[in-house]
Amino acid sequence: MATNITWHPSLSRSERAAYRGQRGLTLWFTGLSASGKSTVAVALEQHLLHLGVAAYRLDGDNVRFGLNKDLGFSDGDRAENIRRVAEVARLFADAAVVAIASFISPFRADRELARALHASHEHDADGPLPFVEVFVDVPLAVAEARDPKGLYRRARAGEVKHFTGIDSPYEPPENPDIVLRTDQASVEDCVAQVVRWLEDRGLIPAGKTPVADVPPAP
Ligand SMILES: Nc1ncnc2c1ncn2[C@@H]1O[C@H](COP(=O)(O)OP(=O)(O)OP(=O)(O)O)[C@@H](O)[C@H]1O
Ligand SMILES: [Mg+2]
Repeated sequence: MATNITWHPSLSRSERAAYRGQRGLTLWFTGLSASGKSTVAVALEQHLLHLGVAAYRLDGDNVRFGLNKDLGFSDGDRAENIRRVAEVARLFADAAVVAIASFISPFRADRELARALHASHEHDADGPLPFVEVFVDVPLAVAEARDPKGLYRRARAGEVKHFTGIDSPYEPPENPDIVLRTDQASVEDCVAQVVRWLEDRGLIPAGKTPVADVPPAP
């Protein structure tokens, strides 16, 4: 722990939100591998950008290519993986962006830590940031039948150890904010469900019209 450090105050979150014309928040997708977290998160990110709402996705494997490339899959490293991602999601939310985190995050304690980081933070004078737990809920049999990465097959064959749902537990959220049944609803319907939930609570502006044309990248 560094001791010779001093917090430097910055703009208030509401000032930042006013400049950006939107508030920040974190959507935390949790669910079994192949439940559809990444698929829905990608479609949601694109939909929000299309509506002119800044959004950015933080995703399981992707962060392990960079930020968390020093972490493995031991219990301690998994917890540190989630802690770091929760801190980064919080920074995006603090910057008035919709952070979309999609991680299996099988343990309640880790998800509660992520929520707690958004509820209060050292030196944070701006109060809690919205943290929305999205449970992507499908029966294990459905996820296993999808198996887009072949991981369930390898876990059943004993080639992948500690695989969630097979030889490592998944602790379902007790009180999720949103439940997506991707075995019953299409990707588009799941996206619409999340967007409606956010609009109903004033977390994103309601009735925004999509940007007509996507401008070319500068
Ligand atoms: N309604 C739906 N929503 C999302 N995914 C769906 C839906 N219907 C079918 N699928 C399929 O289910 C699979 C979900 O895979 P995806 O990679 O999104 O899961 P994941 O939860 O991100 O898994 P992991 O934790 O391994 O990253 C994809 O092959 C997708 O096409
Ligand atoms: Mg994924």
